[in-house]
Amino acid sequence: MNKIAIVTGATSGIGKAVVELLLKANVNVVALGRNQYRIDQVNKEFEPLTKNANLDFVLGDLSDNTQTKLAALSLIEKVNQKYDGKVDILMNIAGIVSTGYHENNDGNEMTFAVNHLAVFNLTSYIYPLLKKVENSRILVVSSYSHYWASMNWRNIQSRKMYNVLKGYKRSKLYNVFFVKEFARKHQDVKIYAIDPGLVNTEIGAKKTSGLVNWFWNKRRSKGTDAYYPAKYMVDIALKDEYLDKSGHYIKEGKSIAPSKKSQNLLNAKKLWEYSEDLLNIKFK
Ligand SMILES: NC(=O)c1ccc[n+]([C@@H]2O[C@H](COP(=O)([O-])OP(=O)(O)OC[C@H]3O[C@@H](n4cnc5c(N)ncnc54)[C@H](OP(=O)(O)O)[C@@H]3O)[C@@H](O)[C@H]2O)c1
Repeated sequence: MNKIAIVTGATSGIGKAVVELLLKANVNVVALGRNQYRIDQVNKEFEPLTKNANLDFVLGDLSDNTQTKLAALSLIEKVNQKYDGKVDILMNIAGIVSTGYHENNDGNEMTFAVNHLAVFNLTSYIYPLLKKVENSRILVVSSYSHYWASMNWRNIQSRKMYNVLKGYKRSKLYNVFFVKEFARKHQDVKIYAIDPGLVNTEIGAKKTSGLVNWFWNKRRSKGTDAYYPAKYMVDIALKDEYLDKSGHYIKEGKSIAPSKKSQNLLNAKKLWEYSEDLLNIKFK
């Protein structure tokens, strides 16, 4: 029987390449997209790949707590309808880079909200569906930029002196903390932090302006195409050899050490509790 994967960020870049490779591996995909036009385009492009595996899109946005909850409930509804409420793989791929300081409807900084808090929130909703399946797995796309991120409990959302790099690399450090703490708490579902390397996508050109936009458009041409990290991510999602690597930070299919700061278990635990407080949930 086909495995079932939930994929966020499925309408462009790495997420879209992952969807394509999952379908080619006969995995049924329930994908999240925030833009109906892009969803329609991807559905059309991948239609020939849906003979042996299904692709279902759910429209939803991860930019604040209420919308993330709605997106999660729509994904769950689809999985309940089609797959008896069971999920083998959750791929948290959606992410942003933002030049300016923006707050969402909850008063949280937007990069923090999409790149970390929505991952925490969505995973808390999908976890019960993953628990029903043996050897189920969660992938969270972090970034090499986390190596340059520092922890500052007085400026956790980078509100003071925000700049694009500070906000982004911190959010990617929080991804590693989340993976470490989840793996410590839960052994029934495996979890991995993914370092995709530099990839030629539009991420740094979408919510950026001026120099940052110009810089990204120059820099991205040195990156790999999106299929390069996508292939490793699909391997991690499907192959047995990764089952004993839960909690690892993985680049090009190999476990490598994440930053020293990301291995501070006390900070990982504190960030977990801080995220629970912001969402007003208990994610045990
Ligand atoms: N590119 C790199 O060099 C690189 C390096 C390290 C890590 N990463 C990480 O890789 C992941 C994928 O990025 P990418 O490079 O493939 O960029 P991308 O092409 O811009 O993909 C990002 C995806 O996230 C979706 N998204 C953004 N905000 C959203 C929201 N509020 N609600 C729902 N979906 C949202 C986007 O939707 P739309 O299609 O509608 O825009 C898009 O599908 C990100 O987490 C990024 O931080 C990328």
